Amino acid sequence: MRVLVTGGAGYIGTHTVVELLGQGHEVAIIDNFDNGSPVALDRVRELTNGPMEVHEADVRDTGRITRIAQDFRPDAVIHFAGLKAVGESTQKPVEYYDVNVAGSLSLLRAMEASDCGRIIFSSTATVYGEPEYLPYDEAHPIRPISPYAHSKVMVEQVLNDWAAASDGRAALNLRYFNPVGAHPSGRIGEDPNGVPNNLMPFLAQVATGARDRLRVFGEDYDTRDGTGIRDYIHVVDLARAHVAALDRAAATSGAEVYNIGTGQGYSVREMHAAFSRVVGRDLPIEIVARRAGDVAEMSADCSLARERMGWQARLGLDDMVESVWNWQSANPHGYRGSDAE
Ligand code: WQD
Repeated sequence: MRVLVTGGAGYIGTHTVVELLGQGHEVAIIDNFDNGSPVALDRVRELTNGPMEVHEADVRDTGRITRIAQDFRPDAVIHFAGLKAVGESTQKPVEYYDVNVAGSLSLLRAMEASDCGRIIFSSTATVYGEPEYLPYDEAHPIRPISPYAHSKVMVEQVLNDWAAASDGRAALNLRYFNPVGAHPSGRIGEDPNGVPNNLMPFLAQVATGARDRLRVFGEDYDTRDGTGIRDYIHVVDLARAHVAALDRAAATSGAEVYNIGTGQGYSVREMHAAFSRVVGRDLPIEIVARRAGDVAEMSADCSLARERMGWQARLGLDDMVESVWNWQSANPHGYRGSDAE
């Protein structure tokens, strides 16, 4: 298929493009390089030799992306481009709604102008909010708390209406749990700007010495060891979920939603222990207060994705932590100061 990928230079985008090209798809990428790197795309080229065109453009630039879509004529779009930091979204709500919601509307206009009727959307498990029961299934009530989560719920709603408005359209909303890990080559991985918000990139920087210790946000949760539990999913498994979703979108119509996780939760202490094992020393930690907005536990029921898309996660905790360390130790400053930069 011809697949237009927005945000293709980012963490999940690059891993997905590698899987797409490996499966024989043709790819056109749109990225404004706000949180993605051209070096990452050079590395993608080095890992695969499939057809890939790259356009530096903002998804909100409807005229520009319409021309790109009309030239490329995609069979489907995978829409990653967006802002994703929960905390930051409470400080900059207008920016979050503009990039995430207005950006998606702009993309849909470009798709309509190029007769593309299939979209796979990067949504998030954060849409569920405080759990009423666990694991979350797709029927769990939606209670977004942050502007970030609200923006994702809004786009899911727009896509539901868009898919219903015309025969033959398909919109798949993939609700990701906690993506971690890196490509086994160690050439691409997560490269956050500034101080990492998320557990795994933070731990990786403690391991290289860039940060002195991990601060554990609370050990008084009602969980097996008192620290927060999350459903971490290897980014390569997540990338493969998008490839499976393309086939599903070609075989169905209307809007669908899928949880994308493993079904297995690990605590902060368990992640810290696993990472320390891989690095070969006990990484320093300090227990601090809970972080506002965190829930005690999240885990996914992913049976729907298995039944309808034939996809399930295959990589486990060791693959996740080993691949992160493999990437981070080879690229202690991420893409900065490497290759062309
Ligand atoms: C995991 C656990 C923290 C950092 C967020 C977004 C979600 C998705 C993924 C979206 C929690 C603890 C963390 C640290 C810690 N992103 N922690 N010290 O909050 O589950 O999910 O990222 O696109 O939408 O909400 O992920 O990695 O930040 O935290 O103790 O320095 O690690 O309290 O229990 P989270 P996370």
